[in-house]
Amino acid sequence: MVVDQLLAEGIKSLQNRQYTNPQLEVRLILSRLMGVDKSYLYAYGDKELPEDLVRRFRDLILKRTEGYPLQYLLGTQEFMGMDLEVSEGVLIPRGDTEILVEYLLDHIDESIGDREFTVLDIGIGSGAISLAIAKFCPNSKVYGVDLYDEPLQVANRNKENLGLHNVEYYRGDLFSPFEGDEWSGYFDIIVSNPPYIPEGERGGLQVEVGRYEPETSLFAGEDGLDFYRRITAQAKRYIKDNGLLAYEIGHDQGKDVADLLRREGFNEVQVIDDFENRNRVVTGRA
Ligand SMILES: C[S@@+](CC[C@H](N)C(=O)[O-])C[C@H]1O[C@@H](n2cnc3c(N)ncnc32)[C@H](O)[C@@H]1O
Repeated sequence: MVVDQLLAEGIKSLQNRQYTNPQLEVRLILSRLMGVDKSYLYAYGDKELPEDLVRRFRDLILKRTEGYPLQYLLGTQEFMGMDLEVSEGVLIPRGDTEILVEYLLDHIDESIGDREFTVLDIGIGSGAISLAIAKFCPNSKVYGVDLYDEPLQVANRNKENLGLHNVEYYRGDLFSPFEGDEWSGYFDIIVSNPPYIPEGERGGLQVEVGRYEPETSLFAGEDGLDFYRRITAQAKRYIKDNGLLAYEIGHDQGKDVADLLRREGFNEVQVIDDFENRNRVVTGRA
């Protein structure tokens, strides 16, 4: 079996599945297995492939036809120009979350500038948000917390791979590792992309998400607002005066989360939409 034949076979298998891009996905999977760049496959379409590689490719394509996410098959996802390791047990970072990070980078540019500052990221997952801030802002000291082992392990590996020394991860429930007095009024920015899907929407999720991504990253009670309630109620203790609280939110949660922030005494509360005019980010100043 040569490269072009195997690619054609893979494309045929993926053709009728929703949410796939067969042409691209088969090339990404085969190039990863061969340890070569995608462009190699265009140049060497008639290269004969060893049997065991053909078998491994077919196994992965079969998994993909069952809805297993491409990013877990490849073991990586790109986020803000960084190649992040991802694996089962860790949410695959989304393009939507780049909107939150871009907002933060603009805020840092305008309101903080070159001075040193501190950030707390609640619910780190792969480390997407915390590592992006640490990478683009060498004057930041970024802290992250997650309740589960897999995100902590993966985020720490991503931190090592990126060679970042201004990030520290803690294990715990929301603010629990930061209960000591020394953390009161410590953070310039508290950011979170917490679980925010209402329990009732479990059944309607895309297979890739509902069956394979960790439910501890997804669901947040009956109305999806549990984490916003808990974090907002405690955030004032840990944030500096005039510090920024920033959340990623679900597309229809803008009003509810903005009301929560106002009720807890945050000012200048804003809902920011994505490019399709859906609510995506809520921010407020302490
Ligand atoms: C929606 S994911 C976001 C991951 C990452 N920040 C991103 O944007 O790709 C939510 C994260 O919150 C973590 N989490 C869930 N419950 C938590 C809790 N009680 N305390 C801290 N982290 C929690 C999950 O393990 C998961 O990594």
